[in-house]
Amino acid sequence: MEIKEDMKNNIIYKNIPTLELTKEQLEQCSKLFSENYGKYSEKSVIRPGERVKMGVSYYQKNYVKDNFSVALAIDKEEIIGQAFYIRKNYEKVGTMTWIVQLVVNKTYRKMGIASKLLRSIWGFSDDFAWGLATANPCTVKTLESATMRKCKPAIIEKHLKDISLIGKDIGFVKDGALEVDKHSSQVNSHFDVDNSSFEGKEEYENRLGKLRPGREWLAFTFREQGIYKSIYKSKFNRIIKFSEEQLRDAYSRMSMKNQKWASGQKNEIDYILSKINNSSKNLKIIDFGCGVGRHSLELAQKGFNVYGIDYSEDHIASAEKNASDKKITNTKFVCGDIRKFKGKSKYDLALCLYDVIGSYPDKRNNERILQIIYNSLEIGGFLALSVMNYELTDKIVPNKQKGKVKENPDLLLKLKPATIMQTTGDIFDPKYIVIDKDEHLIYRKEQFSNDGKLSAEYVIRDKRYTMKEIVEMLQKKGFKIVDKRYVRAGHFDEALEPSDAHAKEILIIAKK
Ligand SMILES: C[S@@+](CC[C@H](N)C(=O)[O-])C[C@H]1O[C@@H](n2cnc3c(N)ncnc32)[C@H](O)[C@@H]1O
Repeated sequence: MEIKEDMKNNIIYKNIPTLELTKEQLEQCSKLFSENYGKYSEKSVIRPGERVKMGVSYYQKNYVKDNFSVALAIDKEEIIGQAFYIRKNYEKVGTMTWIVQLVVNKTYRKMGIASKLLRSIWGFSDDFAWGLATANPCTVKTLESATMRKCKPAIIEKHLKDISLIGKDIGFVKDGALEVDKHSSQVNSHFDVDNSSFEGKEEYENRLGKLRPGREWLAFTFREQGIYKSIYKSKFNRIIKFSEEQLRDAYSRMSMKNQKWASGQKNEIDYILSKINNSSKNLKIIDFGCGVGRHSLELAQKGFNVYGIDYSEDHIASAEKNASDKKITNTKFVCGDIRKFKGKSKYDLALCLYDVIGSYPDKRNNERILQIIYNSLEIGGFLALSVMNYELTDKIVPNKQKGKVKENPDLLLKLKPATIMQTTGDIFDPKYIVIDKDEHLIYRKEQFSNDGKLSAEYVIRDKRYTMKEIVEMLQKKGFKIVDKRYVRAGHFDEALEPSDAHAKEILIIAKK
């Protein structure tokens, strides 16, 4: 069991457009498939009882083209799991995804690898349809669970014309190959794989029809299917928990380079230094949740020594690179979780800027971070903190997007997914926000793709604060408030009205 856990932890996942696969990777894919996929059935017209094999040239001809990608699981540079798929936007229909091949190395089965690969491909809630052809009941089950909908022949039949659009882009789906009626959904792929040992066959034979020779099930689910709601409640906690576990990943994939809010550090640091009124270069400074180090580096360029901590490895790597590019030597960046931070030194100034506090929907985690910051300061030391302005968020989000999210699934189901974290960073765009008013919690759906990692849609929750709330939280911890204001990025020197459209942050300078 432990060995499996170890193996699981070492696996890395990637998502690559197939046109970017190297010859060596294709050879590995071919080998993985040919050694692990399975056998033709004894009744197969071709190669009865023999292993199913697929050569590099088949991949090149059928899968290495526009709109095809592959999700890979890799252990020590060896591909041990692969899911080839096509995801394409069809005019007047929408985006459809079809997984054309899924295989996991036998040694690595029952570790959730296939499920992880498939979920990453199907997990986009605004796609029109998701599907695949398979003789394996487990794969149909994963489709249903990942998309929270059931495969129903009648609905598949209704959309057969739409499905055949994507079918045309796939080599083995020839004209007339889709054989669907109200009780059965199959595709004639001339692929007689031996499925005698598959568990759970009967359920799918009842629902999608007993497989005729050379056929696989055509399993598809559609966004329009209402079934999502009925299982949503029972899955709600799991969806949220999964997303929360992925928060660090989401932060890592937040591209700060091109985001407007992340460029005003010069003004921000000048304002903070003016408030603490101490320019001694001996000040000890720590930057909690330093990201790519923009404030730390600004301070370092002014001659201060700065220690930066962030739990995103990618951000810390960028921070170190930024320091070395600028030949800055008086910063130290460390990858670590603030909630577990046990610094030996005490600091004169702590920064905690741009929503590090508020990253967590529960009070416990946010308060814990604040306590750790408090403990790390000298008596008389300063904190410069910024959190997101709840008052503005509440003003700009329409009432129909507010309520109790857990009890009213429609709020989240109807919410449009965004790609904000990966693009603009404008997490105040009201189109993409649902508010749980009781707790001042903000829900967003964020999609990530095309950055080499597995694609994903996460439900991101953040806690935004009213001035009163954050001030009370700081005072309760023992801080004295030196300065408080509503601000916009890059203009901390300019105090704004609470509901000014630009006042996205609340800035507080506090003293221990
Ligand atoms: C919106 S970014 C702001 C980054 C930086 N302060 C800035 O202004 O550019 C929030 C940062 O907090 C980090 N973060 C959130 N929770 C954390 C935790 N528990 N431990 C360490 N870093 C954390 C994230 O990785 C992310 O880099």
